[in-house]
Amino acid sequence: MTFNPLTVRDDFPIFKRTIRDGKRLVYLDSGATSQKPQVVIDSELDFYRLSNAAVHRGAHQLAEEATDLFEGARGKVAEFLGAETDEVIFTKGATESLNLIAYAMGNAPRGNRFHLSEGDRIVLTEMEHHANLIPWQQLAARTGAELVWFNVTPDGRLDLSQISELITPKSKVVALTHQSNVLGTINPLDEIVKAAHAVGAVVVLDACQSVPHMKVDVKELGVDFLAFSGHKALGPTGVGIMWGKRELLAELPPFLTGGSMIADVTMTTASWAKAPAKFEAGVPNMAQAVGLGVAIDYLSVIGMNEIAAHEHELTADLLGKLLENKEIRVVGPHTMDNRGGALSFTVADIHPHDLGQFLDSQGIAVRTGHHCAWPLTRSLGVPATTRASLYLYNTIEDNDALISGIHSAMKYFGK
Ligand code: ALA
Repeated sequence: MTFNPLTVRDDFPIFKRTIRDGKRLVYLDSGATSQKPQVVIDSELDFYRLSNAAVHRGAHQLAEEATDLFEGARGKVAEFLGAETDEVIFTKGATESLNLIAYAMGNAPRGNRFHLSEGDRIVLTEMEHHANLIPWQQLAARTGAELVWFNVTPDGRLDLSQISELITPKSKVVALTHQSNVLGTINPLDEIVKAAHAVGAVVVLDACQSVPHMKVDVKELGVDFLAFSGHKALGPTGVGIMWGKRELLAELPPFLTGGSMIADVTMTTASWAKAPAKFEAGVPNMAQAVGLGVAIDYLSVIGMNEIAAHEHELTADLLGKLLENKEIRVVGPHTMDNRGGALSFTVADIHPHDLGQFLDSQGIAVRTGHHCAWPLTRSLGVPATTRASLYLYNTIEDNDALISGIHSAMKYFGK
């Protein structure tokens, strides 16, 4: 590790405050949303203070400056992902990105490569977040396509033995998460992408829990579409990315229609601009996009490989400490192979909501519940779990605070 998380914390104003009557804030909920460095907060504020104007429209200096900042942010995202600039679409978040893809596919006319009908298949996994499940359920309902999915093994991995049954010439889309927001599992994309492309299916990757935490290069992964949210990657809320291969974006119908996404309009017809404009109807989330660009600069200066190494070290430490206690059941991989820093667990028969509330009283922020992955929680046979999720500003001291908080909770609840 070449950076000091304590120095990093100094860049985040939220860590200067205390919580629950003067306690040190132990923030272990970055899987839900990350904290923001001052430079990101400043950049959003500065956009409104100094450069606010509607991008791509005005014939005045402010509009030019705003457009340069907005398009500059697109360029930063493209470089960060190893993508082409016109393949990067700004949305309001990963949920919108995934809905955009699924909804647009539902608009595809017969003859378009994205057209789905009865007999076609959409392949998912049992570990999907609702944002990468429900849009596909809706698409299946609209088109008559069938949903099929990879099951999750007891150790929290995808059951790849099902691959040839699931990915068949009928499969048109394979949509899966890169890293589970519940289990921390990092999925084996090579085999799945190869099988999908062999039958002409496109691969849609939910990269919400990977892009903020590791180097993600869309060309190396070989996927066709990718979605992530800015707010989990040190950026503002209200901005996300939908990336797609240029030739696929050319064929994908639009999602939202309106200003700026057109080539020509008459009273009865309209034709579409090329991507990215085709998918960005209306005045976009300019300040948020600019803030995301600054977040990406911040992450890039530290280095994604350095961040991944730091999180690997922290995750191994916390996993080891959780597994030492026989009353704690960690759901998800118990080894560090292809595993990221989302750790979900139960403690004896303490309800996760009670545990979460107890930990909160100690200044420790975790998430409890089904984590928007209800089918997965059901398949794990637990009502809910408690999740700690780590990021670049966490430390071993945070891990130790959680472990000590769990021990105190066990005493408090008589376990
Ligand atoms: N998707 C976010 C999480 O996993 C909100 O917590």
